Amino acid sequence: MRKFTDPDSASARLFERARLVIPGGTSKANLHVKPHPFYLASGRGCRVTDVDGVERLDAINNFTALIHGHAFPPVVETVTRQVARGTAFAASTPEEVALAELLTARVPAVERVRFGNSGTEAVMMAIKAARAYTGRDRIAKFEGAYHGYYDDVQVSFSSRPDDWGPDDAPASVPSSGGIPKHRVFETLVLPWNDRDAVERLVTAHRTELAAVLVDPLSNRMGFIPPADGFLPFLRQLTRAHGILLIFDEVISFRVGYRGAQGRYGGDPDLTAFGKIIGGGFPVGATGGRAHVMEVFDPGTRGPRIASGGTFSANPVSMAAGLAAMQAMDEAAFARLDELGVTLRRRLGDVFRARGVPGQVRGDGSLVRLLFTDRPLRHYRDVDQAAEAEMEALFLALFDAGILVHANGLGCLSTPMTEREVEEFAGALDRALAALRPARAPTRSTRR
Ligand SMILES: Cc1ncc(COP(=O)(O)O)c(C=O)c1O
Repeated sequence: MRKFTDPDSASARLFERARLVIPGGTSKANLHVKPHPFYLASGRGCRVTDVDGVERLDAINNFTALIHGHAFPPVVETVTRQVARGTAFAASTPEEVALAELLTARVPAVERVRFGNSGTEAVMMAIKAARAYTGRDRIAKFEGAYHGYYDDVQVSFSSRPDDWGPDDAPASVPSSGGIPKHRVFETLVLPWNDRDAVERLVTAHRTELAAVLVDPLSNRMGFIPPADGFLPFLRQLTRAHGILLIFDEVISFRVGYRGAQGRYGGDPDLTAFGKIIGGGFPVGATGGRAHVMEVFDPGTRGPRIASGGTFSANPVSMAAGLAAMQAMDEAAFARLDELGVTLRRRLGDVFRARGVPGQVRGDGSLVRLLFTDRPLRHYRDVDQAAEAEMEALFLALFDAGILVHANGLGCLSTPMTEREVEEFAGALDRALAALRPARAPTRSTRR
């Protein structure tokens, strides 16, 4: 299968044009694979075709956003209809109300919703709401968790042993340039699944903290699930100190009809949504308990959030999201769930059969490949050096006909069946075989 890295490929030629007008040749940092990004031309169902005409199985679905894959007929139909009626207005539309009704009907902790254009905005609005509601400024987040590209949260999601500080008091480290130093320190960083440390840190800063921000199943951390009772513990601890609990379900809403909070519990005050709820179009949503969400209501008394966004809740995203989410009924989630179990088992079998240390994590339709075979409890257990090699596996999988994220993240879409699961497993086998000379001697002694 032709590589986009061939110097005469259409991707290489496009990159030559792109780098003259777009820094790095693409607008998304996570597409910077070596030696340059690749470019796609089209997608249909679970397949995408690159600009060189090569078709691959799309197991990343625009970073998990497309739960039905590409050009899902109900979305195409509703969007086509909506585009002909108008794409954006200086007014709300019935589609916005309908998507809000769907989310509030599914998620008990979400009684009210406001829409934006991305997951980043959804998290940002949740943080602002927590500040307005509590009158406090600081937030806490977990080490290794990604929550979008906003100053308060671009902290310690890619810390390394040389800068991450003590295990039970992680340092606040900028994970991007351009963040004012004082903002970095405003964010308190917590160790995942460590109750004693979290209790000590949160209690010490209880009067300053507006919110604790939690991704119940963080991709960047390697999909390490919450330990038994950890989310209820966070709920109790935050409530005891008048701190709001925010769940970031931008990715994890994929794991079930009521999202990760339906699966793992936790009863958050606020939830940030994105990705799948837009049916393939730009979207973000902040939802939560009515008394907290009142801070967005211009008609009530008290501190108010001036939230806006020219394209927030545009009827194309709303209609697409509604069509996509209506098709994700409980049976559809259950089918994907079952397929996800099979996928993780089959991919895990391939690692073992090839004798390559690794594991396959995830839940529902989400999957993450890791070059670490030890049990994982928090971010620091993931072997950072080994994970840096994941890009080589990404390229080998790309050559074997499968598109995943360069960090090993993948996901299913509803057009997929057991056939695609076998296709993925076969491709992983070939990819590991191609990498094997480099990988095999490193087995087992990592910390
Ligand atoms: C958990 C999580 N939160 C927030 C975001 C930000 O969403 P967006 O990229 O739509 O701004 C992401 C993006 O991948 C995410 O994975």
